[in-house]
Amino acid sequence: MSASTSPSAPAVIDTASRQRSIKVEPLTCAIGAELGNVHLGAASRDADLSNEIRALLLEHKVLFFRDQDMTRAEHVAFARRFGELEDHPVAGSDPEHPGLVRIYKSPEQPNDRYENSWHSDATWRERPQFGAVLRCIECPPVGGDTMWANMVLAYEKLPETIKQRIATLRARHSIEASFGAALPIEKRLALKAQFPDAEHPVVRSHPETGEKILFVNGFATHFTNFHTPENVRVGQDYTQGSSQLLQYLISQAAIPEYQVRWRWKPNSVAFWDNRCTQHYAVMDYPPCHRKMERAGIVGDAPY
Ligand code: SIN
Repeated sequence: MSASTSPSAPAVIDTASRQRSIKVEPLTCAIGAELGNVHLGAASRDADLSNEIRALLLEHKVLFFRDQDMTRAEHVAFARRFGELEDHPVAGSDPEHPGLVRIYKSPEQPNDRYENSWHSDATWRERPQFGAVLRCIECPPVGGDTMWANMVLAYEKLPETIKQRIATLRARHSIEASFGAALPIEKRLALKAQFPDAEHPVVRSHPETGEKILFVNGFATHFTNFHTPENVRVGQDYTQGSSQLLQYLISQAAIPEYQVRWRWKPNSVAFWDNRCTQHYAVMDYPPCHRKMERAGIVGDAPY
């Protein structure tokens, strides 16, 4: 039995045996734990504490924290414990803190609908992100939650026949077809030239845990190696079989048994492993304000 399928009911666990007093409360049977008695500003200055948080991240895939009254510099320094940070080519960053992407929504802004789609961040890059640390600056009194799905569990639960069909498949991931789609053609083509579509395995391995992960999401446009004699008798088989299978795989993140849903308050933080999760920001709150700041950590090429 793997950690991702533990049948035990969520319980409050005191991790004193881990030398410290972090309180760990799993939030569902599938994914996510809220950590208490830990301050991320302090963790940004403490390698042992950061390593302990990393171990908990591998175990729970997304970690949640309340009341993290910290500076932007501490936010960035905590995320930097896990790797280099990167900006987003479309969303702007805090000018004084490169790598701290501003996800600011206001009633005056047109609804851009990028985050309310199941996705892993930046899979249109050759090296999609390792993870991200997202802090809430301002949120509506109700609404604007974020959901995460465990994509190790999503892979494990696939029918065996599907696992066999997708074992060697690869998929193209595109910023052009997502963030680029609403841009004027010249800007869209410039974005594509800067970030050519990336190709990744449909089933990737977690570089630290070895777990198998279903790795297609809203940025995936098509399979690149589906057109084989086993899969395709005539061209029509490609069009239908390939796109239906891709949509079926993308839809797995929407299964509630694989998910956790987090309600934000100012100074709440989520830290997720982007390699084995997808997330969806619920856009039910317009015309309210919602301000989030995200430190995205550079990752490795999936294999
Ligand atoms: C994201 O999609 O990375 C942002 C999630 C959120 O704003 O809740």
